[in-house]
Amino acid sequence: EEIEKGGYDHFMLKEIYEQPRAIKDTYRGRLRAAQGIIKMAGVDENLEKFLNANRIIIVACGTSWHAGLVAEYIFEDLARIPVEVEYASEFRYRNPVITDKDVLIAISQSGETADTLAAIKLAKERGAFVFGVCNVVGSSIARETHAGAYTHAGPEIGVASTKAFTTQITVLTLLALKLAKEKGEFSESKFHEFLSELENIPSKVQTTLASNPLVEVIAQAYKDSDNCLYLGRGYNFPVALEGALKLKEISYIHAEGYPAAEMKHGPIALIDDQMPVIVIAPKKGHYEKVVSNIQEIKSRKGKIIAIVTAGDRQVTDLADHVIEVPETIESLSPLLTTIPLQLLSYHIAVMRGCNVDQPRNLAKSVTVE
Ligand code: G6P
Repeated sequence: EEIEKGGYDHFMLKEIYEQPRAIKDTYRGRLRAAQGIIKMAGVDENLEKFLNANRIIIVACGTSWHAGLVAEYIFEDLARIPVEVEYASEFRYRNPVITDKDVLIAISQSGETADTLAAIKLAKERGAFVFGVCNVVGSSIARETHAGAYTHAGPEIGVASTKAFTTQITVLTLLALKLAKEKGEFSESKFHEFLSELENIPSKVQTTLASNPLVEVIAQAYKDSDNCLYLGRGYNFPVALEGALKLKEISYIHAEGYPAAEMKHGPIALIDDQMPVIVIAPKKGHYEKVVSNIQEIKSRKGKIIAIVTAGDRQVTDLADHVIEVPETIESLSPLLTTIPLQLLSYHIAVMRGCNVDQPRNLAKSVTVE
């Protein structure tokens, strides 16, 4: 096992550090930025199904569901296709309206999650075209779907999902970009800009990983917290949910992710000088709005840990701690902003003496409902 960990203390840390390579493996052979081409066999063969779809329904559980939420923003914003994201466990039992004009995308690292598998079977019975995004090759979900795309993240051993999440987002981004181009939503130059920026993401993830020592210092300051709030807007709202899930899964600290603007409808009541609030505030998107959310937290004496774009001044002046990520296109920002949150939960869990790779009560793959 020590050999498999490749010199890292835990699988989770190894898998966090593997992300630049994993993301590259995900787009290798699919993305040809220089020629302006995205090739995805399972999509190319079924292009009409996607282009004629009334809507895309995404089903998943856990972290994969969060990747689905990021994909909702990407598909709607870039490809202008309506998207619904559903917990597989709810979808399967609520007699959903599904037609043969729907495309269902099932996202699953393991490809074995019972609820996701059941949702797929239901959608197939009702005539939808079902596309899988799995990591494990030959898994049940990969076999049960009409077509699909593997993430090629490599084996993920840590129960808390890290590289599976970022590679799921990468696959779904490739798919959305391809559909946006086919639908004529993108000019040639905008398409090229996206493709070359996606190619730059692995090196920007690498740069983000260099914040690790700083994240460790921040972890030391907040490791004894009882609660933690994560806030983000737009593309980074699902990142807030995922950050909170990661922390509660492995450190057993109660954490909640919220859309920053919803804070005033409830969570703001929790904020006092004991409450760490992690705010994802990259320069693109709804930056000014997030800045005013940060001011609201500050005036209630909450402790602010902000994820910002390199060179940021405004949030940096307000926050107690900032962690910088390189600048990128807004739609690709979750691939960077999620990295420090993975590291933060990892370090806090280690400092609290938790079993990082095998947290209590959790399973890597949930094959029962
Ligand atoms: C379990 C795992 C999570 C995972 C979820 C969905 O809860 O602990 O890490 O996100 O199942 O799993 P899947 O394999 O379908 O992505």
